Amino acid sequence: MTDVLDQQAFRYSNDSTPHLMCENVSLSELVQEFGTPLYVYSKRQIIENFHAFYATLKASGKEHYVSYAVKANSNIEVLRILAEEGSGADVVSAGELLAALAAGFAPERITFDGTGKTDAEIELALKANIHAFNVESLEELTVINGIAEGLGLRAKVSIRVNPDVDAKSHPYISTGMKENKFGIDMENAREAFIYASKHPALEVVGIHVHIGSQITSLDPFIKAARSTVKFVSSLRVKSGIVLEHLNFGGGQGIHYRNVVRHPMLPKDELGEEGEYVPSLGEFVGAVLPILDQTGLKIIFEPGRAIIANACALIASVLYTKQNSLKKFVITDTGMTELIRPPLYEAYHQVAPLELKGGPTEKVDLVGPICETSDFLAQAREMPALKRGDSVAVLCAGAYGYALASNYNLRPRAAEVLVDGSEYRVIRERERVEAVAGLNEAGLTVSTVLGREL
Ligand SMILES: Cc1ncc(COP(=O)(O)O)c(C=O)c1O
Repeated sequence: MTDVLDQQAFRYSNDSTPHLMCENVSLSELVQEFGTPLYVYSKRQIIENFHAFYATLKASGKEHYVSYAVKANSNIEVLRILAEEGSGADVVSAGELLAALAAGFAPERITFDGTGKTDAEIELALKANIHAFNVESLEELTVINGIAEGLGLRAKVSIRVNPDVDAKSHPYISTGMKENKFGIDMENAREAFIYASKHPALEVVGIHVHIGSQITSLDPFIKAARSTVKFVSSLRVKSGIVLEHLNFGGGQGIHYRNVVRHPMLPKDELGEEGEYVPSLGEFVGAVLPILDQTGLKIIFEPGRAIIANACALIASVLYTKQNSLKKFVITDTGMTELIRPPLYEAYHQVAPLELKGGPTEKVDLVGPICETSDFLAQAREMPALKRGDSVAVLCAGAYGYALASNYNLRPRAAEVLVDGSEYRVIRERERVEAVAGLNEAGLTVSTVLGREL
């Protein structure tokens, strides 16, 4: 199993002025053509990440599979790539369900998650004949039962249990503890399974666990796996409920530091190696033997591990300013394109598109948005940057565009997919006049400018 880090599609060229490439395409050329902010994806990296996961599951010779968590990045071209590679899809809304179906995912490999599914969403998923609902409460189970009965259909359900395990990730992306809203705690989950097994419009097919995101230690996964296996066995022995699958969720952490390396880049403050993150091979090797004790089909639901390092968000420097305390590098890209730094105190490596040598300096890389929390990186040692230079914010593929907003009435950025030496736009940049609401008002930029004030 090759570590994902060794497969990085973003790397510097060997020129005297090294420039950052995505596969065989220079990012500076993409900036010239499409402007910034710009999300650039590597098709090869998406496929390699998927297979780094899937290959180990396939090697088990069982029916286990990977179900990509669409919430991480729902661009339809990204979804198409994964559907073609044989991935399933984990969706959390009618929009994601429709996108997954349109992208070609087989309905029997689509699961529907989320604590607050609406009646309309449940009806749509039933009609689409998806593989299973991952049910989050007893009341949701009763609602699904009622809707399925009304439609004369049978709903396949998998009940999400909350194993009360601390994922040791950021508190906002930990989901498997009792204080979190997710799942049904182990004490009450049996009641939900029994309820489902007694209602003819429900078919209990599985159990679901997802303990959080960006988990960089194997321990919480092992703990969750052990308690789930114990629960599955007691469900069979004590309540006679036999399941078909065990969905172990996603959450596998990735390297955010030292993703792109070059002798001319300043060293990360954690040193050459940075943080330890188990590889996908190590993860599967640690948990699969435990989960396999159930004899059930195992599903993994990764989002970040598939798409995060397959994308760089490109930003351009607008201004620099030094005050008596620090230096700010103000870019055209901020929390509207990547909210992870302020929201989760997340670290993203930032790398200049061109390395020119010379002294480095400590700066805050910030965006143009009117919030103090609008930063990409703080107190970061960077090569000197000036107006017009561009930088890549790495590993922006997961929860990047997916969490982008129009705050400050900023148009969402364009997305470009690189495939070898070719590239194409997979989502157009939004137009400022549309975001400003001119279309609805029947106006254009020139009619607005031409008006008497
Ligand atoms: C139920 C569920 N499955 C899978 C995922 C994907 O997580 P990650 O992107 O960390 O792999 C999430 C994300 O929060 C989730 O809530």
